[in-house]
Parts: sequence; structure tokens; C-alpha cells
Amino acid sequence: MNILILGSGGREHGLAWAVMQNPKCDRLIVAPGNAGIADIADCADLDIMSGAAVVGFAEENAIDFVIVGPEAPLAAGVGDDLRTAGFLVFGPSGAAAQLEASKSFTKEICDASGAPTAAYARFTEADPARDYVCAQGAPIVIKADGLAAGKGVIVAMTLDEALAAIDDMFDGAFGGAGAEVVIEEFLDGEEASFFVLCDGETALPMGTAQDHKRVGEGDTGPNTGGMGAYSPAPVMSDAVTQKALDEIIKPSLAEMARRGTPFQGILFAGLMIKDGQPKLIEYNVRFGDPECQVLMMRLGAQVLDLLHAAAEARLHEAHVNWADDHALTVVMAAQGYPGSYEKGSVIKGLENIPEDSFNMVFHAGTSRKDGQIVATGGRVLNVTARGTTLAEAAERAYAMVDRIDWPQGFCRQDIGWRAL
Ligand code: AMP
Ligand code: GLY
Repeated sequence: MNILILGSGGREHGLAWAVMQNPKCDRLIVAPGNAGIADIADCADLDIMSGAAVVGFAEENAIDFVIVGPEAPLAAGVGDDLRTAGFLVFGPSGAAAQLEASKSFTKEICDASGAPTAAYARFTEADPARDYVCAQGAPIVIKADGLAAGKGVIVAMTLDEALAAIDDMFDGAFGGAGAEVVIEEFLDGEEASFFVLCDGETALPMGTAQDHKRVGEGDTGPNTGGMGAYSPAPVMSDAVTQKALDEIIKPSLAEMARRGTPFQGILFAGLMIKDGQPKLIEYNVRFGDPECQVLMMRLGAQVLDLLHAAAEARLHEAHVNWADDHALTVVMAAQGYPGSYEKGSVIKGLENIPEDSFNMVFHAGTSRKDGQIVATGGRVLNVTARGTTLAEAAERAYAMVDRIDWPQGFCRQDIGWRAL
């Protein structure tokens, strides 16, 4: 198979690393890719938000299977354009990607299917939103309806914070994404990420993970795209997993199919679990980043077979083979992230790090310049390891971190602390 992966982050490096191990993969191109991906696959400069450009590229390169990494091209309908042109695609239609692209759409699906989620109200104007928040009191959660690169959610612990968030959103802090605002009940509990492969009919759990969203040790400080993750998530016991499938995932998928927009791809449910009861925080329509990297580390080559089966609506005959293992990833970020940071600093020491089925440094924001690896983003490296215990995986990951020579970078030293 000639395979094209769209995207350029650590998630796509993880996907590429797993796909490459499968003998069914003859050629792998990742567009646009990054310096780490370029070590294991061909990278191509391509505007992945343009359906026409991606279709043209896939035709020229005799691509058999396209895997879409990020949500933006999915929401923009790039998957639809590819399918119309006859390509096999892993990832939902633009209509089904609304599960991530619109928070109020997801709330409608929850209402229609009875899936447990936070109580909410929607607003298109500031004054009624402010009145509602004043009546509800804090803590309360303010969300921009649309895609805001993970930044459109404010968990307000005080009324002042909530009112300020409402003003910011209606003042355009998140552009069009904030034209509608969803205000939600604050959910208490432990969070987990649940990944379910879907082919429009069948739902096949692919794994669980927990990530660390806050930048500081002990889960403090500003929110980020994720500073580390581990899999499996201990809070996702068999009973909780079954409840999440029966009460949240399957009813949502059935409602999507009933509307004529069945979901195919990976459904990433962000769950809040309290007293054994999962509630839906949000859906994403792609793998989590950095959660994907720990899932890939645990699953390896079978990933290609699973994604292929989902795209071909053959999940009823597919199996996920889990080892009794654990994986953990530590995100190394540029100093200053998630605020402003410098680009272009040189990262050394990567050549001395083992790359095998237990140790892997996935690249998130890097490029190669004059033969050296330089940082080009906020989250830059995902130092990922596998072990028979979570402690062993953590030890391996931090041993790799110690060998990376990058004074302009930092990482949290406590990834996995809740489970350890
Ligand atoms: P999201 O961008 O929707 O993943 O939200 C970012 C983070 O905000 C989530 O991972 C949760 O930690 C938090 N969050 C979102 N909604 C709620 C809620 N209703 N109650 C408590 N925390 C929430
Ligand atoms: N790590 C969270 C996300 O990918 O949305």
C-alpha cells in the first residue's frame, strides 16, 4: 500500500512510526511532516487544508490510503474531497467532524441520545450570557463554540473570571469560533481520554490514556495542548469503559448514523469520571496529541490494519491486541510555552538515544537546518517509552530526557504522578 498521512506533529510521527512497521506499507509519505518524520518516511510540502491540492498529490503519487491526522482538514471537508475522488480515507466527513468543530452540535447529539454530559446553555450575545453566569455562580465553564486550537475553554473558578471570559469571547478573542458561546456546569472528578475506532456501524475501543494539560508540576498553571500522557488510564476500569461505550459512545454514533452523517475514524471522548460514572466533556474527531504517541507505542504495526479496517467498514472482523504494558510520554517544550517562546534553538544529543519498541523520541515541532535539529514550535519533542509497569516506562522516558541537550527547552518532571 502507498500511504499518505496528513499532519506535522508528534501525533503524526507516532502514526508514521507504527504504520511503517507494518509490512503492508510499501511507501509512506507524510505531508508536511517534520524533521523526525523525515528520518523514517518521505515528507512532502503540501497545503493540507486544500482538498484540491491533496487530491492532486494523492493522484500523482498513486496513493492507496490517506490517514488524516489533525481536525482542521477534517472539518474543512478534505476527507470528503478525497472520497469523492475515489480515495480510501481514515477520518470523518466534514459533517461528522462537527462533533469536534462545534461544541453546541455535540450538546445536541448528547441531548438526542441521552448521553450524560454537563448541563449547559448556549448564547450568541454577551448580556444574557452574563446574566446566566451570575444566576448559576462559579465554578463554571465558558467555551467558544468552534475550533480554537484547544484554547477556547475557560474553567472559571470565580464569577469575575467567568464574566471576563464571556467578554473576551464576544470581543473576538477566538475569532469566529467565539461567535457562539456554550456555558457549562463545572464537572468534578478524574479526567480520561477514551479512543474508539468507528466505521459508521461498529465501535471498537482502541485504548485509554490520561494527559497532563497544565504547564506546571502537580497540574498547576496555564492550560497547554498537553505536557505528557500515559496509557492505560487506571480510572478507565472495565466497568467504566463499558458504561462509557453503552451510555455515551454507542448512542452518539447511532444518532450520527440516524442523521445520515455516520462517523468513521477515531472518536476521542474526553470523559470526566466520578464515583464510577463517566460523563462526556467533549468529543474530538482525531487522535489526541500527545495521547496518540503512547497508544502507538503500545500497539505498533497493527495500527495500520485497524485504521484500514475502519476506513473499509470492516471493524466487525477486527481485533485490538493489547499487551499487558504501559507507555508514557514526556513533552519537551520551548521555554515560555504556552506563552511566547523563541524558535530556532538547536537540539543536540538525539543521535545517542535508542530508537526501538521501548524507546522513541517523537518530534512535534522540529525542522532540520544546516544538518542540525532546530525547534520550530511550542511543544517540540515527545519523549516516549514503554514498560511492563508505568514506573518502568517513566524511568525510561526520563532517562532519555536526561540525554537530550537543549538548554532552551523544558519539561515537567512529574508526568504520570497520579497513577504512580
Ligand atoms: P477541552 O478543550 O474541551 O478539552 O477542555 C479543556 C479542559 O477543560 C478539559 O480537558 C477539562 O479539563 C476542562 N473542562 C472542560 N469542560 C469542563 C467541565 N464541564 N467541567 C470541568 N472541567 C472542564
Ligand atoms: N491532548 C489533548 C488533545 O489532543 O486534544
